[in-house]
Amino acid sequence: MHIPVLLKEVIEYLNPQPNENFIDATIGEGGHTKAILEKNGPAGKILGIEADPILYQKVKNIIQNTKRFILVNDSYANIEKIVREKQFQPVDGVLFDLGMCSWQIDESKRGFSYLKDEPLDMRFSPKNILTAAEIVNFWKIEDLEKILRNYGEEKYAKRIALAIKETRRKKRIVGTQQLVEILKKALPKNYDDYRLHPAVRTFQALRIAVNNELENLKIGLTLAFKILAPQGKIIVISFHSLEDRIVKNFFRDNIKQNTLKILTKKPITSSQEEIKNNIRSHSAKLRAAIKL
Ligand SMILES: C[S@@+](CC[C@H](N)C(=O)[O-])C[C@H]1O[C@@H](n2cnc3c(N)ncnc32)[C@H](O)[C@@H]1O
Repeated sequence: MHIPVLLKEVIEYLNPQPNENFIDATIGEGGHTKAILEKNGPAGKILGIEADPILYQKVKNIIQNTKRFILVNDSYANIEKIVREKQFQPVDGVLFDLGMCSWQIDESKRGFSYLKDEPLDMRFSPKNILTAAEIVNFWKIEDLEKILRNYGEEKYAKRIALAIKETRRKKRIVGTQQLVEILKKALPKNYDDYRLHPAVRTFQALRIAVNNELENLKIGLTLAFKILAPQGKIIVISFHSLEDRIVKNFFRDNIKQNTLKILTKKPITSSQEEIKNNIRSHSAKLRAAIKL
């Protein structure tokens, strides 16, 4: 079951008031949206955006309040166009809860988890043509190495890229466990002093590349801020340093132009209690700001 991360804190910083409108740019399984809908009645609306068509359908079935809830199966990189088409204004707050949700890891069968044996897909949306299998089997080794280093912050990027090159000369790499075995063989036994599973960084890098996540985030933040009403809030929950850096820099650039005020001096993290109940929350960082 999906438990929304930092739910209390999202509500605290978004502070939804009756009749205000919000955008949930990554609606996932609708956890945060349900809580906001309880606060912004009787006429406040939520526009939900979800790239994954199966999750889109799932949420459509769960949240039946059609008058106050609009759902779109698209990328938040198109947020400005979506807002225009749906005539969704004014926007009093936008929430981004990045990455994947539990259903995608546990049930989608798209190879997001290095603990399962599934096809190497990793796409949020089938509209996307690029899959993880395409990258490991057909990309130039230098490009593979580059994404492992840049998106996985993997110091053994070259070693992994060469091990993949060696394997794919003989046979296609099609499944997650096949890739995990290549990684285990290529990496030192005491990888990261036993703190991280040897596949974590590689899987993160592939997923980011497949879904163009960092570019989408930059575009999404810029456009969301553009369509936000003055005094509107922008809240982002990130799960690794690459995402958090983009958010931090975006806020910093806007402070310089006097267009934004930060509400969270330091990023908000999950309590020990939340981490105990929801392991996914251990790396979450929430940053919130208000548009001036
Ligand atoms: C962490 S989950 C959100 C969970 C949600 N807040 C909840 O409480 O149920 C992130 C979601 O964002 C979606 N997503 C990722 N990139 C996206 C994009 N560019 N546009 C729209 N949705 C995206 C994923 O498919 C995933 O369902």
